[in-house]
Order: sequence, then structure tokens, then C-alpha cells
Amino acid sequence: MSRRFLFLLSSARPGGNTLALARVAAAAHPPASQVWLDLCEPPLPPFRDLRPGHAAATGRVAEVMAEMRAATDVVFVAPVYWYALPAPAKLLLDHWSGWLDDPATGFADWAKGLTLHLITTRADPDPSVADLPEAMLRRSADWLGMRWGGTLHAVGDAPGDVLADRAAVAAAARFL
Ligand SMILES: Cc1cc2nc3c(=O)[nH]c(=O)nc-3n(C[C@H](O)[C@H](O)[C@H](O)COP(=O)(O)O)c2cc1C
Repeated sequence: MSRRFLFLLSSARPGGNTLALARVAAAAHPPASQVWLDLCEPPLPPFRDLRPGHAAATGRVAEVMAEMRAATDVVFVAPVYWYALPAPAKLLLDHWSGWLDDPATGFADWAKGLTLHLITTRADPDPSVADLPEAMLRRSADWLGMRWGGTLHAVGDAPGDVLADRAAVAAAARFL
């Protein structure tokens, strides 16, 4: 099956390090196989827990769901914020709970066909700084029956710094 990549951006600044690294990783695949969505613009609405009921996803949430369903590979492009995922990326995970509560989405079934990846940058060279966001996504993938595609790490702070992390740039070219 041909691969289709969904890149989900979640940095609060445009043109940052994580996007630059993701572009290096994406260059290994044809542009026609890639969809890029910024979870900050337009933002996802707040998640409402309606259990034991549920509501159909609409608007931006439905758009993200449709792109996930059409993908083979979902790539979170997420800098470390306070040792965690940026809020827009975490908010999408919360919406996944709503999708699971609505049987009409079929999410519990089609999620099993997805491979989840994380591309992340951080300012602190300590590699354990990215442990939490990596664990959140890896454990969520395991629980949903998704395949875990791994994490691409890099260090940088000012925009463009990450391109000086030569080991990370070399790893990015092979990551996907
Ligand atoms: C709100 C916020 C929180 C951050 N928290 C951390 C952190 O906990 N650890 C760290 O190493 N870097 C932290 N950083 C630095 C970013 O991870 C770093 O600048 C990264 O390159 C930003 O990626 P971007 O250019 O793609 O936005 C933080 C930056 C911001 C804006």
C-alpha cells in the first residue's frame, strides 16, 4: 500500500525548529504523499466529555479526523513545552477520546491501521527532557493498537538552530 503522511504541527511559532526538522524528514517522500495541518491555526475547539453520550465531530475536528483516516502515517511535529506536548497536540489526543465514544466514527477500528511518529525539538540537550511527550504518544499508540514509528529528537532554541544539529538532520533524512 502506498504511504500517505499526515504532519500535525503544534508549535506556537511559525517557521520554527520542529517544522524545519520535519521538512528534512518529509523530503524523503513525494509531496503528493504529504498533508500538513497546523493544529494551532485554526485551533481545535475545547474538548467536552459528554459521556455516557457523545456528539459527532464537526468543523476542524472532523477535518483532522478525515485526514487521519486517509493517512497511513501520522506524524506529530511537536517541540517540548514544559517537558510535555504543546497544548494543541495534547488537545487532539483528548478529542480522540470523543471519537472513541462515537461508534459512528469507526476510530477504534481504523486507528489500528495507523503508524504514529513524533518529531520533537527542545532547548535542553539532556535527552530525558523529551521522555514524557514520547511516552504519551507511544503509550497512546500502543493502547489504540497503532504501530509506533519512533521519535526523531533534536536540540535547538532560536529558529534554525536545529539545522546545526548535524546528527539530527542526518537521522531526519532516514526517519520516515
Ligand atoms: C512555552 C515553551 C516551553 C518550553 N519548554 C521547554 C522545556 O521544558 N524543555 C526544553 O528543553 N525546551 C523548552 N522550550 C524550548 C523549545 O522546546 C525550543 O525553543 C524549540 O526549539 C521550539 O521549537 P519550535 O522552533 O519548533 O517552536 C520551551 C519553549 C516554549 C515556548
